[in-house]
Amino acid sequence: MFAVLQKRLYWKWKTFAPERWWGDFTDIRFYLVDQLSKLRGKKIFDIGCNAGIIASELAANGNDVVGMDIEIKSLKSYIKLFKHLDLVPKVVNGSWDNPMFKDNYFDVLLFSWTLYYGENDENKSKIVSRLTRALKPGGSIYFVEANRYCFIQGRGLEHFWTVDMARAFFESHGFAIKEVLGWNPLPSLLFWLPWKIKNSIPQKVVLFFYPPGRLVQYAPGWYSFFKWLGKYPIAKKYCRSYYIRADKKCG
Ligand SMILES: C[S@@+](CC[C@H](N)C(=O)[O-])C[C@H]1O[C@@H](n2cnc3c(N)ncnc32)[C@H](O)[C@@H]1O
Repeated sequence: MFAVLQKRLYWKWKTFAPERWWGDFTDIRFYLVDQLSKLRGKKIFDIGCNAGIIASELAANGNDVVGMDIEIKSLKSYIKLFKHLDLVPKVVNGSWDNPMFKDNYFDVLLFSWTLYYGENDENKSKIVSRLTRALKPGGSIYFVEANRYCFIQGRGLEHFWTVDMARAFFESHGFAIKEVLGWNPLPSLLFWLPWKIKNSIPQKVVLFFYPPGRLVQYAPGWYSFFKWLGKYPIAKKYCRSYYIRADKKCG
């Protein structure tokens, strides 16, 4: 099943927004979509939806999805993709700075690799507080992003959180954490260098020294292995990225 999902998502990226392709099949958003594929009949707000690759999966499963992005070019790809799939595109070209939905409207808010655009905790707090008003009590946030201390992806230290920081952030904004998974803690060949030096090397060079990430996708069972490993504290500490699902507390 997962192989079918991989192929479908890859085809969508390559056909509708090749320049935004996630890079390889170990990207955490494949896991995210796998989790989201359980949802049916939900009102979902995909914040920073880009070309709608994830949104189209949700809509195809009978959810009512609204995608929002600040970038008009991405939304054009979104609309093209939805029309190609005979789905109705519901998009907002706008920013999370301007809340536009009534309170308690959505069942699910999706922050897939977007909140780091908020740059610092103060901004992120404003964004999340504004948007979560539109989430029903008991509704869920799905959140994926880079681990702050992963020198491959968590560059721009101030933009990214560690897993614990993200947990604490959502808890302090009225959420109960339901699931946390660290994704892909496999080390780079440069793991032994001091962190400051690693982080100053250009990302393209760093990726060159990261064969596990590229090769692991061909190893049988890697996906189940990542899912198993990601629950342990060591994986949460050294992961490249992480997944959090949290529910808005009632009252
Ligand atoms: C790294 S992309 C992630 C796209 C998609 N969610 C995914 O996981 O593939 C971040 C997206 O957030 C959008 N974005 C950035 N700032 C935004 C804002 N203020 N309001 C809405 N979307 C924004 C960008 O245009 C971009 O499409």
